[in-house]
Amino acid sequence: KTVYILNGPNLNLLGRRQPEIYGHETLDDIRTACAALGETLGLTVELFQSNHEGGIVDMIHTARENAAGIIINPGAYTHTSVAILDALNTFDGPVVEVHISNVHKRESFRHHSYVSLRADGVIAGLGTEGYQAALRRLGTLLA
Ligand code: DQA
Repeated sequence: KTVYILNGPNLNLLGRRQPEIYGHETLDDIRTACAALGETLGLTVELFQSNHEGGIVDMIHTARENAAGIIINPGAYTHTSVAILDALNTFDGPVVEVHISNVHKRESFRHHSYVSLRADGVIAGLGTEGYQAALRRLGTLLA
């Protein structure tokens, strides 16, 4: 089974972007760690990133055909995007929402998530380890 890890805007700069908030690991580091963990869980992991809302919607549509589960960090679109919520609602498998930072400790506009209306689980504030926690959960849900 395949799991898609979808990342939204500005996450291409992970490791260099506000490291005091998001840490020093890059998206490539996450890809490597999750691919290795996925192997132990019997899951193939594919990681994507887009700075564009429609690009993320398109990736979710591709996931409908190719993925059994989705891990998604929609970045700032978490707090604004009905389109991403609607796209996730067309996906049948389990969805785990990840935020590297603890959004609840930050500005109030980060406290609301449209994606949480669909997500089966939400992880925030575990740093980049949150992606691995999400993958373990999908390993359980897809077993
Ligand atoms: C984020 C939190 C969002 O509020 C922010 O816009 C991001 C990253 C996180 O991973 O902590 O881009 O999703």
